[in-house]
This record gives sequence, C-alpha cells and structure tokens, in this order.
Amino acid sequence: DLAVAWLGIQMDNPLINASGVMCRTVEELEALRHSAAGALITKSCTLEPRKGNPEPRYASTALGSINSMGLPNAGYRYYLDYARRYDHEHGKPLLMSVSGMSLEDNLEMMAAFDEAALPVLVELNLSCPNLPGKPQIGYDFEASARLLAEVSKVYRRPFGVKLPPYFDPVHFGEMADVLDGCPSIGFVTCINSIGNGLVIDLERESVVIRPKDGLGGIGGDYVLPTALANVREFARRLPGRHVIGCGGIRSGREAFMHILAGATVVQVGTCLYEEGPACLARIRDELVYLMQDKGYRTLTDFRGRLRTL
Ligand code: DHB
Repeated sequence: DLAVAWLGIQMDNPLINASGVMCRTVEELEALRHSAAGALITKSCTLEPRKGNPEPRYASTALGSINSMGLPNAGYRYYLDYARRYDHEHGKPLLMSVSGMSLEDNLEMMAAFDEAALPVLVELNLSCPNLPGKPQIGYDFEASARLLAEVSKVYRRPFGVKLPPYFDPVHFGEMADVLDGCPSIGFVTCINSIGNGLVIDLERESVVIRPKDGLGGIGGDYVLPTALANVREFARRLPGRHVIGCGGIRSGREAFMHILAGATVVQVGTCLYEEGPACLARIRDELVYLMQDKGYRTLTDFRGRLRTL
C-alpha cells in the first residue's frame, strides 16, 4: 500500500511530476492527471506569460539533463483557471508552483491564490537558476526570510518552498533556521536542479544549449546524492514539516532512497521528460516490489529510517 496522507491531501502513491516537466499546458496537465501519478504540479508561473529562453534550451546526456528554459509559462491566471475548473473532489491532488520575477510579483500572485481559496498546495519556487542576471533567491538567506515573512501575510494557508541544493552543513542550518521561523511553511521540496552546470559535446567541441553560453540546471543521475543529502538534512532539521524529495529518481530504488532519507512524497523530473508519463506506473510498481522484497507494507514502515554507521 503506497497511500500517503499529508497536509490535508490524500495520495494513492507518493509520485508527482517535478514542476517544469509536462505541466505547462492544460493538455500536458491532463495527461498527468490520467497517468499513475499520485498528484500533479503545474509549471512555475509568473505574473505575465513568458516565452522563455531561446532554443535549444534542454538537452539530455547519458547521466541526466541540462536545461535553461527561462520560465516559459502561460501566466498565473491560466493555471489558476485550470485549478478553478479542476475536480478536486474526485481527482488526484493538485499542487501549483509559483515563481515570481520579484517580491512584488510573488505577493500579487500569492494574494490571488489566497483569494481563490482552492484546495491546492502552493510550492513557492526559491530556486530558478535560469534567469540571466537573477540570482537564486534560496542562496540569499536574508532575502528568503523577508520573502517568506511577506508572503505569509497575504497567503494565509500552509505552503511549501522549492529549494536549490545546498552543499555545506552551515548552509543547511541557515536555511533550516529561516524555515523554522516561518510557521506557514508546511513542506520543503529538495532539490531544484544543480544550477549552472556546463555540458560539453566533445565531438562538436560545443556547448549543448543556447542560453547563458551553455550554462544550465543539471538533473538526473548526476544529482541523486546531492538530493538525498538535502532531503535527509532538511527532514531531520525540520521535524513537523514535510519534505518532498526531488532529484535523480528513475526507478523504484531511488524513490525508496528518498523516502528512507525522510521524504513524504517524491517528484520525478528528468526521467519523466525522457520517458513520458508511462514511467510513473513503472516506478510505482518497482517501489511496490522493492517494499515487498524488504517486507515493508507501508511507506511509514521505512520513511526517515536511514541507518548511520
Ligand atoms: C525554470 C527552471 C527551474 O529550475 C525552475 O525552478 C523554474 C523555472 C526554467 O528555466 O523555466
């Protein structure tokens, strides 16, 4: 039994798409709704629609992916309309990613989501690495604390944050303190892509994506250990909040690892982009078989029970 109930929502299984993958249009969202996903999340939205960065802006490699999409999205009203028409009673839970270009934009969108009073979970994105000239806010602890304090005033329900990966225990501690100081935070999604990597095509002696002279967010196998470290560290530093694990999940094995490290539910990015929604049924079934092998009946039998030496 893969069922999981958290923050007032009920999921048949712990799998969600990672925001950005297969969730920009109603057609893509509907395909996810009809997939094996336990819930779905919309593409990070901005106040106004955006075309995003010039193409090519995504490339896959043997070990994962690089992207610099640049927040192409239909504008928050489009996703809010989708959520208003969504059958929340009978359908799988709906999460919505918000990624404003400024504090003001984030406040305007979060106020609109508050006003709509829909049974959705908002994931506020603090970690888009692909806007030329704009730093990832999650790497500025002061700015993150200010943003969360302001958002909490206009959005009066629990919400989550999508974090960039951290690489130092001092930084885990600083961000955990910021989140600990914000009672509205119900969940933390770890991790966004490892920002500003560089993939090189040896034969062409070239970068593989056009924006930022080839720099882009790295996902897939490359990021699994970093994702697991972030999940484990935030799960144990923030008891009472939920962690969504994201990074390097492409089979039941990595999904199990994320949950063992403390994740309540998990998101699938690169693998979903590469394989399409059928991978969600496969990963779900692999997780079932792995749990059977190990003699676990439910996710709570092993969640957060990672052993240390
Ligand atoms: C984009 C990439 C991200 O990693 C993110 O969190 C939001 C947007 C993008 O390039 O579209």
